[in-house]
Amino acid sequence: MDVVVGRVEEVRRDGCRVVDVRGRPVGVISVGEEFFAVSDRCPHMGASMCTGSLSGTFVEAGPQELVYGMDERVIRCPWHGWEFDLETGRSLLEPERVGLKTYRVTQQDGQVVLHTGA
Ligand code: FES
Repeated sequence: MDVVVGRVEEVRRDGCRVVDVRGRPVGVISVGEEFFAVSDRCPHMGASMCTGSLSGTFVEAGPQELVYGMDERVIRCPWHGWEFDLETGRSLLEPERVGLKTYRVTQQDGQVVLHTGA
């Protein structure tokens, strides 16, 4: 199922727009020229991820060396700060166990389109 989210410039202006996909909220998030989509319910206690924030995190650059990276690729829950990789949906802390469902997003004729895969 494809869902038209809105015009590209409108979704960019909003930063994040929540759409209903068969009764489940999905957050479509604008980052620069790209769009990402994740479940809008935090797996911890259900906060809206769209009201959270985007940032980066420290990533390994070598043995015992961390550098700031993944800028605007980490979405942080507004309630208790759980962080997720915006591209994969996986938790930064427990990637094997916790995550947000992700969806594909494209731009077609000036519109942002969410692909739910069903
Ligand atoms: S509800 Fe998201 S971290 Fe608690």
